[in-house]
Amino acid sequence: MIFDIKDTDSYGYIERVKSVVFGKNKYAHVITLGCQQNEADSEKIRTMAAMMGYEITDDASLASMIVINTCAIREHAELKALSILGKFKEKRREDPDAVVALVGCMAAEEKVTEKLKNRYHQLSFTLEPSQLHRFPEMTYRALVEKKRSFALGTESFDIVEGITPHRASDYRAWVSVMYGCNNFCSYCIVPYVRGRERSRESSAVIAECRELIESGYREITLLGQNVNSYKSDMDFASLLEAVATIPGDFTVRFMTSHPKDASDRLIEVMGKYPDKIAPHFHLPLQSGSDAVLKSMNRTYDTSRFLSIVEKLRRTVPKIALTTDVIVGFPGESEEDFLDTLNVLEKVRFDMVYSFIYSAREGTLAAKMENRIDEAIKGERMRRLLKLQDGISLEKNAEYIGRVERVLVDSPSKRGDDNLYSGRTLTNTRVHFTCESCRGGEFVNVKINRAGPFDLFGEIRKEKEND
Ligand code: SAH
Ligand code: SF4
Ligand code: F3S
Repeated sequence: MIFDIKDTDSYGYIERVKSVVFGKNKYAHVITLGCQQNEADSEKIRTMAAMMGYEITDDASLASMIVINTCAIREHAELKALSILGKFKEKRREDPDAVVALVGCMAAEEKVTEKLKNRYHQLSFTLEPSQLHRFPEMTYRALVEKKRSFALGTESFDIVEGITPHRASDYRAWVSVMYGCNNFCSYCIVPYVRGRERSRESSAVIAECRELIESGYREITLLGQNVNSYKSDMDFASLLEAVATIPGDFTVRFMTSHPKDASDRLIEVMGKYPDKIAPHFHLPLQSGSDAVLKSMNRTYDTSRFLSIVEKLRRTVPKIALTTDVIVGFPGESEEDFLDTLNVLEKVRFDMVYSFIYSAREGTLAAKMENRIDEAIKGERMRRLLKLQDGISLEKNAEYIGRVERVLVDSPSKRGDDNLYSGRTLTNTRVHFTCESCRGGEFVNVKINRAGPFDLFGEIRKEKEND
């Protein structure tokens, strides 16, 4: 069900907390780990904190509300969250009105919750992603009733509208269009912690985008765990087209896509609006071995993947392709791994995000035998990085001499105020000097040097080629 936060109990809790907090100079500090869905959720947490009377701060030492928005995708992400939580061990002892919360994907794991409750006494409450709108209620229980809460809500299919994000940027915006995942790839914890797929109404998404564009936003990223599985009164291709045809000077991106839903129609729409839809597709491959893909439950094989790549390049010639790869999935033989390298050589992705397989309790793969030795995983990872760094460098070198449209970010923090960075439409970072640039404007940059991850260039008044 889709409902508005105004029609939930949360609104009452917001008012109650506000009557306690308002006018007392209380600050809230939100720490975000994990993917863009968490970035987007954190913007909503900040909104709810502000509605309850907290001021938002980047300085944890000032804050009497600490929120850690966590990720559970790999073991490393969980260890990082616990180490951050450790830093706030004394927070509630020092300040009896302090609230320390752990939210996000880790909070949806039953075993983790048990451990957090028993071993981390500094925690006031945990809250999983599907229950985020109950944040004011949990704050009330902690702050006013002085009760810790670790309830795991029942699995929710709900979408709560009406929490306008407290956006981190005034020119780049995340817009969530769907939540959850139904794919159950055998290695992945996301379907367990984020619940089933559910999509917002297209009218709500389009209205949000229109408002952003009218108030000067230059880049909109439509977000979803499987954004192209979006389904309401329209499919994702139509939603993207509807956003692309809103009048204004902006670019629209989307992530992350599942290859199974990379439809011909979606590719056609990208080809139809080259000035509005960013020529970039993040298409996670995971493995280049059909046997491993099957065991991962990815539902496509390498030939289907390669045919999508071919169609994308034919329809959007300037397209940048990026991907995710897992190294050392259970049973991955040397041949399977060589198959992956082979696909990377064939496709020549602009960028590859590679991850060493990490067993996640509760997933199918965690029960598989034939685990790969850590040393072999490390060695395969190094080989993959070596190959891909060379390809990425060559791909980036193709930009040299070209003039690219770049969305400017803030000046670099290296002390030189004239040193800016920004991103090309293909989402590659560019560094350049500029005397009078502003974050959030589009400029033309002539590229004169390339590294494997970044480009370097100089500002140009007019676009010279294309
Ligand atoms: N929904 C997206 C991305 C999900 S998480 C998709 O379908 O591709 C981002 C990436 O983390 C995944 O693409 C995968 O490469 C990686 N990942 C997920 N589970 C993992 C695990 N158990 N170990 C290592 N990497 C993992
Ligand atoms: Fe995880 Fe697969 Fe769902 Fe992506 S599609 S979130 S990898 S289960
Ligand atoms: Fe991590 Fe949750 Fe995103 S597990 S990758 S923060 S959906």
